[in-house]
Amino acid sequence: MNRAERLAWLRETDPRRLEALWAEADDVRRRHVGDAVHLRGLIEFSNRCGRGCLYCGLRRGRAGLARYRMALGEIVACARTAGELGMGTVVLQSGEDPSMPAAWLADVIAAVKTETRGAVTLSVGERPAEDYALWRRAGADRYLLRFETSNRDLYARLHPDAADGLDGRLAALHALRDLGYEVGSGVMVGLPGQTFDDLADDLALFEQLGLHMVGIGPYIAHPASPLAALPAAAGAVSGTELMASKMVALTRLVLPDANIPATTALATIDPAAGRVHGLERGANVIMPNVTPAARKALYEIYPSKAGVTVDAADAVADVRRSLDALGRTVGVGRGDSPAMARRRLSPPVTEEVSP
Ligand code: 5AD
Repeated sequence: MNRAERLAWLRETDPRRLEALWAEADDVRRRHVGDAVHLRGLIEFSNRCGRGCLYCGLRRGRAGLARYRMALGEIVACARTAGELGMGTVVLQSGEDPSMPAAWLADVIAAVKTETRGAVTLSVGERPAEDYALWRRAGADRYLLRFETSNRDLYARLHPDAADGLDGRLAALHALRDLGYEVGSGVMVGLPGQTFDDLADDLALFEQLGLHMVGIGPYIAHPASPLAALPAAAGAVSGTELMASKMVALTRLVLPDANIPATTALATIDPAAGRVHGLERGANVIMPNVTPAARKALYEIYPSKAGVTVDAADAVADVRRSLDALGRTVGVGRGDSPAMARRRLSPPVTEEVSP
């Protein structure tokens, strides 16, 4: 599918015509990654953050938010819960906290690996490459680092303290790939000032990076963030469930064997249908939250986050029921990316290379 066709789908609003896009994404998903939906236990282990990203509720300087970093033992207990609930991967996520010692997280990774024997995914932001290397040696398997938007100017405006802008983010993604991580990235949909062309560029960048995992969610304004005060620009795309769904579907077509979650943001913007639509329109991963309730409430990236009041066991039982209803199965094992096996031998991809 060429760029013009992708743009046409992004602008499409007729629900009957969109059925064709959903059907194609669902078909490609089934043929390339199958009916199994992999569950990843999300552990939000720290909400401390040194960055001032304009959209985020965890941004440095946000007044009135109690900050926490869980102790190693508490994190390992969450990982045990994830394992007991049948999840073969835990995701360790936090704000970007420069005061977090890399060696401490390496100890956490090793302890979690010993506890669960499953895969460990990190989502802790931009750090020096030697930290990525240390954590890889400690046993980390995968790394999530969204580039948020491929529009350089918009990226710079949203991330005032990212010295190297989008290039710094892309350099980090390449460093992670070179270290042998399965690499995930992604974007928010409906950022103020974002255009349809930007979304088409996002899709092209997913493809160019040859990502193993792609997370996409609608942008949800946080009243305590500076971006919430900004009106949506004319001609901009909206952060609706439909727009985010279209990006999920197109991402599946662009990267047929990637692991793509139905994200929490999608479930938050549309509690009734968001997650199911994600799964029916290209997604094959769900990330149930296994963070203890008291911590989870403080991990407020955006308001009214789905699942904040739901206990992990209930959340997983609910996921199992909805997968049953959809005729899908729960993935067993680690759920490694099939894209990884295929791309392991290829050089760091900066341009299209033919297989
Ligand atoms: N709305 C939706 N998603 C957000 N994120 C951060 N702030 C928001 C928001 N206000 C997403 C970013 C980040 C991920 C962890 O959460 O894409 O990479």
